[in-house]
Amino acid sequence: MKEQLTIALSKGRILKETLPLLAAADIVPAEDIFSSRKLIFDTNHPHIKLVVIRATDVPTYVEYGGADMGVAGKDVLMEHGGEGLYEPLDLEIACCRLMVAGMKDAQPVQGRMKVATKFVNVTREYFARQGAQVDIIKLYGAMELAPIMGLADRIVDIVDTGNTLRANGLEPMEHIADISSRFVVGQPSMKMKHRQIQPLLDKLAGAIEAKREEKSA
Ligand code: ATP
Ligand code: PRP
Repeated sequence: MKEQLTIALSKGRILKETLPLLAAADIVPAEDIFSSRKLIFDTNHPHIKLVVIRATDVPTYVEYGGADMGVAGKDVLMEHGGEGLYEPLDLEIACCRLMVAGMKDAQPVQGRMKVATKFVNVTREYFARQGAQVDIIKLYGAMELAPIMGLADRIVDIVDTGNTLRANGLEPMEHIADISSRFVVGQPSMKMKHRQIQPLLDKLAGAIEAKREEKSA
């Protein structure tokens, strides 16, 4: 008998791009996730279930074994710290950059800099590596507003097209990391359920490769 496998998916913008990759690996939800209020979904395989949760909760579920595997942005994984997780696949979706940004043409900050972000740990580590001590202000969204309102000198946030920064009179200043979504596996699950997980990873890797080839053709 096959062991039960649970995959935690980030709801929001990653989900739409994740489902075609799962489908290419022959995992298809039994009903339409987008029109349902359910949190757990059966799939075409009786032993595989999907749970759909907030992006920031995915590493926590996988770390503590609430799910065997999951899909999360590298930004979220960096902030979480990655304890207890393997990160075997870059899904090459939801690509963006994690950046320091500030008001356009802002002067260098005198004294201790105030940085608004939801990526508190990543921000602390980034500035500490540069030998800079900064005051970090935790926000949960609309980071771009913080420098405008005088709450912070800089922000650390996701930048893709740069439209949100530009629309608010900000500009990117320093690149922290390239971001994409990753497939993660809990360390105990990888050990105990390896026989079932490895073929799934192989299929996903094939689907990523096929998509890459299609793009470059
Ligand atoms: P939550 O709603 O739980 O606070 P969130 O708002 O960060 O999370 P999403 O906006 O769905 O969730 O983003 C999920 C992931 O998509 C992010 O962790 C990041 O990896 C990536 N991402 C975020 N913004 C962009 C963007 N503008 N372009 C491309 N990818 C992005
Ligand atoms: C994300 C991020 C930026 C924006 C960047 O926000 O926090 O605000 O996208 O993308 P851009 O460079 O293409 O403009 P999102 O739209 O996810 O809203 P959020 O504030 O809910 O996170």
